Amino acid sequence: MEKKVIIKINNLVKTYGEGEALSYALNDVSLDIYEHDFLVILGSSGCGKSTLLNMIGGMDKVNSGSIIVEDEDICKYNDKKLTLYRRDTVGFVYQFFNLINDITIYQNVTLSPSSRKKQRALKLLERVGLLEKKDKFPRQVSGGQQQRVAIARALNKDSDILLCDEPTGALDDVSGKAVLKLLEEIHSEGKTIILVTHTKEIAQMANRIVTMKAGKIVSDVINENIVKAEEVEW
Ligand SMILES: Nc1ncnc2c1ncn2[C@@H]1O[C@H](COP(=O)(O)OP(=O)(O)OP(=O)(O)O)[C@@H](O)[C@H]1O
Ligand SMILES: [Mg+2]
Repeated sequence: MEKKVIIKINNLVKTYGEGEALSYALNDVSLDIYEHDFLVILGSSGCGKSTLLNMIGGMDKVNSGSIIVEDEDICKYNDKKLTLYRRDTVGFVYQFFNLINDITIYQNVTLSPSSRKKQRALKLLERVGLLEKKDKFPRQVSGGQQQRVAIARALNKDSDILLCDEPTGALDDVSGKAVLKLLEEIHSEGKTIILVTHTKEIAQMANRIVTMKAGKIVSDVINENIVKAEEVEW
C-alpha cells in the first residue's frame, strides 16, 4: 500500500545572526514524513534538530523553502493562520514540559475553550494515569507526571501529528520509560510522531531514523529492528 506523505519539507534554510555571525541552523533540509511514521531525529547538540521541529510546528519563520501540510505551505502563512495551525494541527511536547504553572493540571489540558475538549480532557488525564491529580498545580506533581500532563494537553487537539523535543531529557529512567510507553501507544493508535533526541538507544523505537549534522540531514534509514519502549535502555 502506498503511504501518504503527511508533511513535505523542501529545501528548508534557517539562519541566525548576520554578517560574520551568520550561522545556518538548517542548511537545505528536505524530508518527506509519511502518515503514521514514528520518526526520530538524531544528532549532536547544535545540529539543528529543535530548529527543524520548531519550523514544522510553525513556531518560527524560515529564510526559504517550504513545509507542505495538508496541501498548504505553512511557511507562507500569516501570523493568524500560523496561530490556528499551532492550535489545531500539531501537538507539541517539550523537554521541560512548558505547563502553565498558575493554573491546575486539568486547566492545562483544557486550554482550548470548547466543551467537547473539556470532556475529553478528563478521559485523557485518566489515560495518562493522573485523573486524581487534576486539581493540583504543576509544581505539586513530579517531572514525569508533568510530562504526562503535557502529553495529555497535546492529545487534546484534533491533530494527527505529535512533535516531541527531547521528551525524556529531563526525566529519570523510570519516568522516561513511562513517557516512551505512552508515545508508543499513541503511535500504535495511528498518530504520526516526530521525536527529537540525541540518545541513540531511544531512536531504536522508531520505524525511521533521520540523522542531522551541522544543519543538514546526513542519513535517513528505515529501522528494521524496532525495539519496544519497555526494552529501551539508556
Ligand atoms: N534563537 C537563536 N538565535 C541564534 N542562534 C540560534 C538560535 N536558536 C538556535 N540557534 C543556533 O542554531 C543551531 C541549531 O540549534 P538547535 O537548537 O536546533 O540545535 P539542537 O540540535 O536542537 O541542539 P540540542 O541537542 O542542544 O538541543 C545552533 O548552532 C544554535 O546555536
Ligand atoms: Mg534542541
